[in-house]
Amino acid sequence: AKNVGILAMEIYFPPTFVQQEELEAHDGASKGKYTIGLGQDCLAFCTEVEDVISMSLTVVTSLLEKYKIDPRQIGRLEVGSETVIDKSKSIKTFLMQIFEKCGNTDIEGVDSTNACYGGTAALFNCVNWVESRSWDGRYGIVVCTDSAVYAEGPARPTGGAAAIAMLIGPDAPIAFESKLRGTHMSHVYDFYKPNLASEYPVVDGKLSQTCYLMALDTCYKYFCHKYEKLEGKQFSLSDADYFVFHSPYNKLVQKSFARLLFNDFLRNASSVDDTAKEKLGAFSTLTGDESYQSRDLEKASQQVSKPLYDTKVQPTTLIPKQVGNMYTASLYAAFASLLHNKNSELAGKRVILFSYGSGLTATLFSLRLHEGQHPFSLSNIATVMDVAGKLKSRHEFPPGKFVETMKLMEHRYGAKDFVTSKDCSLLSPGTYYLTEVDPMYRRFYARK
Ligand code: ACO
Repeated sequence: AKNVGILAMEIYFPPTFVQQEELEAHDGASKGKYTIGLGQDCLAFCTEVEDVISMSLTVVTSLLEKYKIDPRQIGRLEVGSETVIDKSKSIKTFLMQIFEKCGNTDIEGVDSTNACYGGTAALFNCVNWVESRSWDGRYGIVVCTDSAVYAEGPARPTGGAAAIAMLIGPDAPIAFESKLRGTHMSHVYDFYKPNLASEYPVVDGKLSQTCYLMALDTCYKYFCHKYEKLEGKQFSLSDADYFVFHSPYNKLVQKSFARLLFNDFLRNASSVDDTAKEKLGAFSTLTGDESYQSRDLEKASQQVSKPLYDTKVQPTTLIPKQVGNMYTASLYAAFASLLHNKNSELAGKRVILFSYGSGLTATLFSLRLHEGQHPFSLSNIATVMDVAGKLKSRHEFPPGKFVETMKLMEHRYGAKDFVTSKDCSLLSPGTYYLTEVDPMYRRFYARK
């Protein structure tokens, strides 16, 4: 199989959201902290009728319907998620309801979990399957689904929720450059979920930022090394058209791109422009550790990378800023933003993606885009996803109602024997929603 990659995509996020500006005022944070400081516009959240299972049922059904894929053509289905509803039964098995109806139970794959990285692990599994001798000629589907919720405090505004489905196969408009990957994995406690009675993580915010940037540096180093071995020349930011980052909040994405430019400067000063050389010179003697602590370096590198950020990163930031951190779906929602903003201009372009999951696991990898053939074309993917339409038809909640919903969900987490309001008035037609959890903890969903 050649040009294996993503043939089609669909995205779903809850239609319910709060404005970060309102949340800021409600929380008593200083004005601008969430909007300018974190760089976020809105935060989407699941009400009591939605969860990661309903969102993934919605997104997979929609993918199959909108691209007219017969469910019998699917041979592998992988889910990435860090939102635990059941410690044994995978989300994938819930999705089997869609396929069993059509008589297809011959579908490999289960769930992958490690913080925000599970979706990338699932994606690599699927791509590797299509490239392998076990491939039976059918398509794979990868689903990333998460509801990111935090306890009250500084991390809460970095929540969000969404599900993404991707159809995987050969001759894809979004093809993997499979040899170009740099991975870094290590044991740290930056963000984890040891309390099985709570949906909220334990998070060391500052440490998680540093871990993220250190992982980025290391992945970039390995990536560049592999590129140089393969292509016989150095890699620099100019060798890719777009950079897409896992996006817990936009400020970290700005810092990450700045960090890559600083890496280029350190490896080969001639690959950056004169202003950058001049402004970054003062920092070339910092040790690695010092460089993560230096606020001056952070400021200087963000400043000199701004023009490149505007062309190579800004088009990828729309959905993460509007929806918030979607954990496993965050990176792919950033990529979906790029397709939405630039669809027809993307043919021939190289896009680099950085996936980060706390704990920690991270990979930097490369995609090559082609226009593709209908229905698997870049322009049709953008049309099907209808990002603008979905953002426009949302319903804004006041922060008080958001907080109330979080409280209710704390009670519902791990609970049994309740029925939901079954109020699906805010959901668009075709959306799945939770109706009941019975005395045996079995969950029931309906479709609007
Ligand atoms: N106007 C403008 N900017 C402001 C204002 C204001 N009024 N107030 C603060 N800021 C800026 C700060 O200067 C800072 O920006 P800087 O880093 O460029 O200086 C930014 O806003 C955030 O302010 P902090 O004081 O650093 O925020 P705090 O420590 O309260 O919380 C944090 C931020 C740590 C990111 C928290 O939201 C968190 O823990 N989030 C979850 C962890 C996370 O997402 N980690 C990322 C990788 S792991 C993962 O994906 C889950």
